[in-house]
Amino acid sequence: MSMEVKKKVEEIISQMTLEEKAAQMIQVPVAMVGMEQAKEWARRGVGSFLHALGDDARELQKVAVNESRLKIPVVFGIDAIHGHGLNRNATIFPSQLSMASTWDRDLVEKIGHATATEVATDGLHWTFSPVLCLGRDPRWGRISETFGEDKYLSGELGASMIKGYQGDDLSADDSILACAKHFIAYGEATGARDAYDTQITYRKIKDEFLPPFKKAVEAGCATFMTAYGSVDGTPLTADRKALHDILRDELKFDGFLITDWDNVNALIRRQKVCDNIGDASALAAKAGNDMIMCSTEFYEGIIEQVKSGKVDEAQLDEAVRHILTIKFRMGLFAKPDKKGVPGSIGCEAHRELALKAARESVTVLTNDGVLPVRKKKLRKVVVIGPNADDIRAQYGDWTYFTHPVPGKYTEPQRPYVTLLEGVRNSLEGSGIDVEYSYGCSVNGRSYYKGDYPDTEAFMKQVYEDNRLDNDGTKEMPYINEAASIARGADLIILALGDNYNQMGEYNDRAELRLSGMQEALIRILSTMKIPLITVLITSKPLAVPEVVRDSDAVICAFNGGMYGGQAVSEVIFGDFNPEGRLPISFPVVTGQVPVYYNQLPGWHEGRYVDCPAEPLFAFGEGLSYTWYEYSDIKFDADTKTVSVKVTNTGKVKGVETVQIYIDDVVSSVMTANKNLAGFAKVELASGESKTVSIKLDDDAFSVVLPDETRVIEPGKFIIMAGHSSKDEDLIRLAVEL
Ligand code: BGC
Repeated sequence: MSMEVKKKVEEIISQMTLEEKAAQMIQVPVAMVGMEQAKEWARRGVGSFLHALGDDARELQKVAVNESRLKIPVVFGIDAIHGHGLNRNATIFPSQLSMASTWDRDLVEKIGHATATEVATDGLHWTFSPVLCLGRDPRWGRISETFGEDKYLSGELGASMIKGYQGDDLSADDSILACAKHFIAYGEATGARDAYDTQITYRKIKDEFLPPFKKAVEAGCATFMTAYGSVDGTPLTADRKALHDILRDELKFDGFLITDWDNVNALIRRQKVCDNIGDASALAAKAGNDMIMCSTEFYEGIIEQVKSGKVDEAQLDEAVRHILTIKFRMGLFAKPDKKGVPGSIGCEAHRELALKAARESVTVLTNDGVLPVRKKKLRKVVVIGPNADDIRAQYGDWTYFTHPVPGKYTEPQRPYVTLLEGVRNSLEGSGIDVEYSYGCSVNGRSYYKGDYPDTEAFMKQVYEDNRLDNDGTKEMPYINEAASIARGADLIILALGDNYNQMGEYNDRAELRLSGMQEALIRILSTMKIPLITVLITSKPLAVPEVVRDSDAVICAFNGGMYGGQAVSEVIFGDFNPEGRLPISFPVVTGQVPVYYNQLPGWHEGRYVDCPAEPLFAFGEGLSYTWYEYSDIKFDADTKTVSVKVTNTGKVKGVETVQIYIDDVVSSVMTANKNLAGFAKVELASGESKTVSIKLDDDAFSVVLPDETRVIEPGKFIIMAGHSSKDEDLIRLAVEL
């Protein structure tokens, strides 16, 4: 921080009343309180608003800088998670989990920058992204918000995204604040029930869950968000060890820390560690939270605590110091409204980027030879399934569908391309007949559009129904219709998966099989002896061994964003050579969870008697239309660089993701048999070889000891390089350090 900023911040703090300091620490949800109350808060000197868009934000900012005593500008936050998705004109990129399937740092940075530009153009300053929790239990509703199960991949992509959002200069017109969330271990909730307690130790936290957040600090992330959950009975909101000792003292985070939604009231209502707002406010402030999201009662609570001598006012000064410093670094005092880049919301360049991201994320999981499909042999193609033409499923969480303006059931703004439309585009002018059938719903409820008088009624029904307890047999007529349409076809493209009401907050799942009548649908279609390609449009890994058995090819698209359907179709018809790699493992059955690849070893082969030892699909897996061979692995201990020769042995050009794993052969605490330590994407023409050099982090060779210190223990390490985390895909080199 420059001396000049420091001086200005201290000057303002010296002029602030206790009430103004308390207000500066609060973030008010505009959609919940309404514009009139929000303006009242602006006059009082509130620190931040969330979920206001465009003109509303500009109006509130005017009130803050003209009508509050000290004229401190407000910082506006929004959940722009994969694009500025709450604005229905914005570019919708693939979900974070889909993005992670690209393993492309540069692309993720560009998506961050495009999103920042659109958010800033809407007059906003801050996105609550990226999520750096690890997605290790796919039952968790928020899996699609993560970069998958691995700490290294999450850290690398998270840092790229942060750089994309913030750029080099927080005051630039196209820069917004990033927010690393949710600190910490939120993804580890027991039983994958959102925000439940976790029993892990701080040694484990430092070893497994802290590394991506450390990278976020190193990338200059301006804000962090406290998790909802608790570790061994201590709510994170009250956990000074996590929020202060680790975040500030160890990681040297110098931005500001915001709680998650209503965390202070949760200390009373849910976590029951306080019985009044004064104590809850004191606890949250003392633990190190700088800004309080939504629990506006904190205002009275903390003022009372300071007045009664239970909280030192210096505690508030420290929080306000963190907030004001960022506001100065953003240049907010000089320029309270972000300009962005006029015309950039949903612009062509950003949409092209969304298409590129969707293409790179498509991951081919099995292929019995049907892919790529040669158009020449086709006369009739049928596209079937609940997710073939449902843009909500393709978009995934955090768009105006999952977070709609109350009472409005709107369809999204074009352009977007569903899988059905993508197939029609790919086959346009070819003379091939494309037919479509809905098949069944994802949850046993008939959402067949034709059953409703108009779109409004259809969307209303869909939004209102959030259950899985419907009688799926009523859908047999749709399944029969699908089978009869498929008769005589040369190819079936079947889109299965989940939908918005099975993902996100409040939507954890106990069962990871395909829901509703989807298994019946594929079973019936597979008996027709027509080549069958199944596309999983899903927010998470599903337990789908039957799909693998019954399909000639399985493609995972996750939530591909506005061009997800087009990207999948290009892969199917060979216009794009697939390069996606799974950032998360798929279980064979739900009870096999967790199946993440880097669990600590046990014995008895880690196997249940009633399912295979291996996951259905492993971390890092993904097929191409060519093959890659690995040889000549070397390691330079001085620069910690691995080099390996990769050859494209197939007939077409392709992009391989070279993955490096490390096994710490003997260590004083247990380590996984392999941990991802580096990766790089490389393009290779048919027959071409390249030597790829990948520099590893120092941390790649370290362990966290029981006393919570991280050390490198000298000795033997095995370095592995290859196509996926599977043993058979890796070549090895033993080294001494
Ligand atoms: C979520 C956060 C989100 C916040 C604001 C919370 O419920 O946990 O991830 O940023 O709401 O919308």
